[in-house]
Amino acid sequence: MQIAGRTIFITGGGGGIGAGMAQAFAEQGGRIILADIDAGFAEAEAAKLPAGTEAMALPIDVTSRDSWAQAKAAAEARFGPVDILCNNAGIASGFAPLIDMDPADFDRLVAVNLTGVYNGIACFARAMVDRGAGHIVNTSSMNGLNPFGLFAAYSASKFGVLGLSDSLRQELAPHGVGVSTLFPGLTRSRMSQSDTVGPGAMDPARLAQIRANMMEPIWLGRAVVRAVEQDQPYIITHPEYRDDLARRFDTILAAFGEPAQPGYRTGASATGR
Ligand SMILES: NC(=O)c1ccc[n+]([C@@H]2O[C@H](COP(=O)([O-])OP(=O)(O)OC[C@H]3O[C@@H](n4cnc5c(N)ncnc54)[C@H](O)[C@@H]3O)[C@@H](O)[C@H]2O)c1
Repeated sequence: MQIAGRTIFITGGGGGIGAGMAQAFAEQGGRIILADIDAGFAEAEAAKLPAGTEAMALPIDVTSRDSWAQAKAAAEARFGPVDILCNNAGIASGFAPLIDMDPADFDRLVAVNLTGVYNGIACFARAMVDRGAGHIVNTSSMNGLNPFGLFAAYSASKFGVLGLSDSLRQELAPHGVGVSTLFPGLTRSRMSQSDTVGPGAMDPARLAQIRANMMEPIWLGRAVVRAVEQDQPYIITHPEYRDDLARRFDTILAAFGEPAQPGYRTGASATGR
C-alpha cells in the first residue's frame, strides 16, 4: 500500500516509537492521528511533524473499548476511514521474578500490551475488510521472539501479539488487508530510558553504554513504512539479536525427534498402548 494521502492511526503516538512512526509516515505524505493515554504527549509529538502534515492528537486508553469507539469517531469525523492502524501502545514492568509480581500488574500489562492490540483490531479491521484494503501493524518486541528472564509477563504479552498477528494475517489476506508485526530491540524512548527496562541485572556502566547506543525511533518508523508498502509480515530492525534467536529455534527444532507414540500416523498404532 502506498502511503501518500492515507490516514494512519497510531496508538502510543506520544511515545518514542509511535512518534517515530508518525514522522516516517508523514515523510511519505500520510495523514496522521497520534493517539495516546497521555494526550499532552500526543499533542507535543503532533506539533513536531513536518510543516504541512495533516495531523491530529487524540486521547485513548487502549484497554477501553468505549475509548476506542470515541477515538475512531473523532478520527473519522476529521479524516474519513482509517487506512493503516498501528497498535503500538505498550507498557513494561520492572525486572523481577514472575512469582514476585503483583497479580494486578500482570493483568494491567496484558490488558494494555495484548488486549489493547485486539481492541484496536476489533474497532477498525471490519471496515478495512469491507473496503477490501488496509494494513495493521502490531508492535511486539524482541522479547516476543526470545524471552528474557525477569521479564516473563512482558514477554508473554509480546508473544501473544505475534500469535495474534500471524493468525490475523492469514485471515485478512484474502480481503486485501495486510498485517505486519514489529519486533524492536532497544530503542530510545521513555520506556527504554526508565529504570524498569533494559537488558536485566547488569553492570550499571554496561547498561549506561547500551542506553547510549539505542536506535533512534525514526529508523523504526521508516522500516514500518517499507513493510506497509511491501506488505511484509515481520519487521526486524535490530539484526544483532539474530544469533540468540537462532539458538532458541535450534533448541526447539532439536526437540522434534521420534513421535512419543510408536507407530503414530503409520496405521500401526490403532490398538497400541
Ligand atoms: N523502546 C524499546 O526499546 C522497545 C523495545 C521493544 C518493544 N517496544 C515496544 O514499543 C512500543 C512503544 O514503546 P516505546 O518504547 O515508544 O515507549 P514509550 O513509553 O515512549 O511509549 C509508549 C506510549 O504508550 C502510551 N500508553 C501506555 N499505556 C497506554 C494505554 N493504556 N492507552 C494508550 N496509550 C498508552 C504511553 O503514554 C506512551 O506514550 C511498546 O509496545 C513497547 O512495548 C519498545
